[in-house]
Amino acid sequence: MRLLLLLLMALLAVVRAQQDYCFGKDTERLQTRQFSSKTAYQIVKGTNMDKQYQVPGCEPKKMWIFHRHGTRLPTPSTIEAAPRLEEIRDLIVDNYRVRRTKPETDALCDTDLTAIQMWKWNTSITVDIEEYLTSQGYEDLRGTAKLYQHYFPTVLPTTFNDTYYLFRHTDTQRTTESFKGFAEGLFGDSNVATAADIPEKDLLLRPYDYCTDFKDKNYKGVGSEYQKYRTTAIWNNTVADITRRLGFTVLAEDDIKLMYDMCRYEQAWQVDRTSVWCGAFLPEHVTVMEYAEDLKYYYGSGYGFEENTRFNCRAVQDMLSRLSSPVSPHVVAYFAHSTGLQTLLTALGINKDDIPLRADNYDSMTSRRWKTSLLGPFAGNFVAVKYDCPAELEKEKVVFFLNQNAVDLDWCNVGLCNWSDVLEKYKTISEANCDEYYCRSGAPGGRASMLVTAFIAAFVYLMH
Ligand SMILES: *[C@@H]1O[C@H](CO)[C@@H](O)[C@H](O)[C@H]1NC(C)=O
Ligand SMILES: *[C@@H]1O[C@H](CO)[C@@H](O)[C@H](O)[C@H]1NC(C)=O
Ligand SMILES: *[C@@H]1O[C@H](CO)[C@@H](O)[C@H](O)[C@H]1NC(C)=O
Ligand SMILES: *[C@@H]1O[C@H](CO)[C@@H](O)[C@H](O)[C@H]1NC(C)=O
Repeated sequence: MRLLLLLLMALLAVVRAQQDYCFGKDTERLQTRQFSSKTAYQIVKGTNMDKQYQVPGCEPKKMWIFHRHGTRLPTPSTIEAAPRLEEIRDLIVDNYRVRRTKPETDALCDTDLTAIQMWKWNTSITVDIEEYLTSQGYEDLRGTAKLYQHYFPTVLPTTFNDTYYLFRHTDTQRTTESFKGFAEGLFGDSNVATAADIPEKDLLLRPYDYCTDFKDKNYKGVGSEYQKYRTTAIWNNTVADITRRLGFTVLAEDDIKLMYDMCRYEQAWQVDRTSVWCGAFLPEHVTVMEYAEDLKYYYGSGYGFEENTRFNCRAVQDMLSRLSSPVSPHVVAYFAHSTGLQTLLTALGINKDDIPLRADNYDSMTSRRWKTSLLGPFAGNFVAVKYDCPAELEKEKVVFFLNQNAVDLDWCNVGLCNWSDVLEKYKTISEANCDEYYCRSGAPGGRASMLVTAFIAAFVYLMH
């Protein structure tokens, strides 16, 4: 009888273990599509372009591209903190194998635990190469160039011509290398493509460097929706769950953040492999953490603050005027950063939700449009293709592509927009003086000028 009971218990344990989620054995790994700005391009890029690029009766003529750099190395603070992960690794293994604090349910599967046990930090990654483009990052850009050339061979010829093509990148290693990867994709590896000079004040690609008001707004500090979300029951339960799952009674949020970041980076560096740190999270944990990131960017660069829609004025004007003009350059491609890409989308009204994202509406926002994983992954890119349609009433049309998906604006016809409508919709921004529209260019920021205005107002009041 006792033997039977023991057998039954052993059987139960096996069944239970089989039910445990196992990242290393999950062939779909859908949560890797939810890593916000650290999502791998290859995982989220659109796959329907062959149905979307051809417009009957029209011929593609011009392209305007805003490209985020590809997969990069971490920031200095993450690089400096990375060795801590080797301590966490040992603690987790100790929890499971020595302290026997492995949880009853939802434990790490053996594959994931063993993978964590074998993990080592790559000590060649040092702060002097912080945020450098990785080889996968270079491939990301080489790949998008080749793909767009495949669909638009007449717009993207294989020889470089500095009148026809205009390239520019920001003053960083990762965007410079991204440009090179893109040029190699278009012109081959012995190409002579050059990029335009970077102006001393790069208001077009890095406007945030010159707008204190934009940088200083509270999108992730005390009182922000991001911080509030991180004190909700959903968040606390997730943290508690992760802690318990790894065999701890307490685990600092900084440690969880570090595992999360390393998981996302490694997964983007080597898309075909599995990052062992992703095994530390259940898919539902990733979904909860994705919302925190989405909130941060929604208020940092998205529709959360009205002024964000006015911020990337120059890029919108540049696109409209370049595509309106009949002369060269026919192809304009910029290599920049996620804030630039996200604020461009915000200025254009792309993926705007009817209900704002807030700390308290996680549950009702699961099908939100603002999903940064899909909007701004590594190598995320916005491409406007201008078409000539001689046989049509409207002779000029455009399709906007975001990460190889046609953008479905409600005033367009399944992604195909009349150019006259584009000009009408973005009239306010195209007629604005960008130096005044949000931040006064070069001035230390809106706050200071508001103070001056208030001062003058008070002065005028006192004089009367
Ligand atoms: C370690 O990092 C360096 C620098 O990014 C890279 O060149 C190298 O391939 C990495 N090594 C491994 C084993 O991933
Ligand atoms: C470069 O492109 C321009 C038009 O964009 C064209 O007029 C010119 O002939 C081209 N130069 C060469 C060498 O093909
Ligand atoms: C979540 O935890 C934080 C601090 O750890 C606490 O301030 C907050 O009240 C908790 N939230 C809930 C809903 O229990
Ligand atoms: C584009 O313009 C044509 C002709 O003016 C019109 O019939 C069509 O409805 C417009 N398309 C959209 C998507 O508004």
